[in-house]
Amino acid sequence: PGGERVFSGIQPTGVPHLGNYLGAIENWVSLQNQYPSVLYSIVDLHSITQSQDPAQLRNNIVDMAASLLACGIDPERAILFQQSQVSEHAELSWILGCLTSMPRLRHLPQWKMKSKQKNEGSVGLYTYPVLQAADILLYKSTHVPVGEDQVQHLELAQDLARIFNNRYGDLFPEPRALMSSTRKVKSLRDPSAKMSKSDPNAMATVTITDSPDDIALKIRRAVTDFTSEVTFDPETRPGVSNLVTLHAAMATISVEDAVSQAKGLDTGVYKKLVTEAVIQRLTPIREEIERLRADRTHLEEMLARGTQRARELAAPVLREVRQRVGF
Ligand code: ADP
Ligand code: NA
Repeated sequence: PGGERVFSGIQPTGVPHLGNYLGAIENWVSLQNQYPSVLYSIVDLHSITQSQDPAQLRNNIVDMAASLLACGIDPERAILFQQSQVSEHAELSWILGCLTSMPRLRHLPQWKMKSKQKNEGSVGLYTYPVLQAADILLYKSTHVPVGEDQVQHLELAQDLARIFNNRYGDLFPEPRALMSSTRKVKSLRDPSAKMSKSDPNAMATVTITDSPDDIALKIRRAVTDFTSEVTFDPETRPGVSNLVTLHAAMATISVEDAVSQAKGLDTGVYKKLVTEAVIQRLTPIREEIERLRADRTHLEEMLARGTQRARELAAPVLREVRQRVGF
């Protein structure tokens, strides 16, 4: 339907892992085919809330573009762009920050969690939910795919749309959450935790560029339990169930079908089946990333074109904001 616009962002923090792929990117690919206007941002401004090596950051931005394109993001259907190159994000963030109370931010879960990990967080870490709100509102986005961990941040964006509209007159639609029923992928080494790129144990995570040998090794070493039969029960058998989840997702079959394919196999043999499904799915993606990385200029140009299109959408909205605020 007309007027509907999807916005989402991803940090340029290295090669995506299976959790990112199944939990976010795969859904992005399907949304670009369902909505008339879709923007996906590589949110480098967000990534510097944690310290980054400049050369590595620059490389990670282009590399994330390659990963997203290889996973199926189509620059004809989705505007793929680099956040920092559209300066309107930072400017709108300042204006929205002036409409946000301190306690409103203090109670957000990301702050509590991340600042505790690092003892003290930066002002940027504290206020990044405001920047997220700006990312969304800058394009008058109506739909935002979010995981459960981001719901409260989207609520801030909704509040800020309302606060701005009340003070300065209707401008922003209230963005709605697109809750996807995506699977949580667990760590292969500790299935009580989610698969995460911040996991120091490389064996816990399969990235989308892992070689077939690496994939086989990591899945062979995946933690299971003392029952050899394959069943799906995430509560009591998180390790085996994580393998079933991966198998089903990568082979695009239901969990029930995955379990029935595992009938008669012990978990050791089943791991080979899972490995095969993961390799089959990731091989074309890995090859496409390699192809794209080989022509960096082409990648940079593609990203620059997306960024230019984003700027063209952002500029008139920010002009209107500035005028309403009294600048
Ligand atoms: P990480 O935890 O590896 O740092 P991010 O927090 O950057 O990942 O998440 C990027 C996106 O990937 C988010 O949309 C998040 O919900 C999704 N995601 C991350 N880890 C997983 C996982 N283990 N299972 C499912 N989705 C995940
Ligand atoms: Na994270």
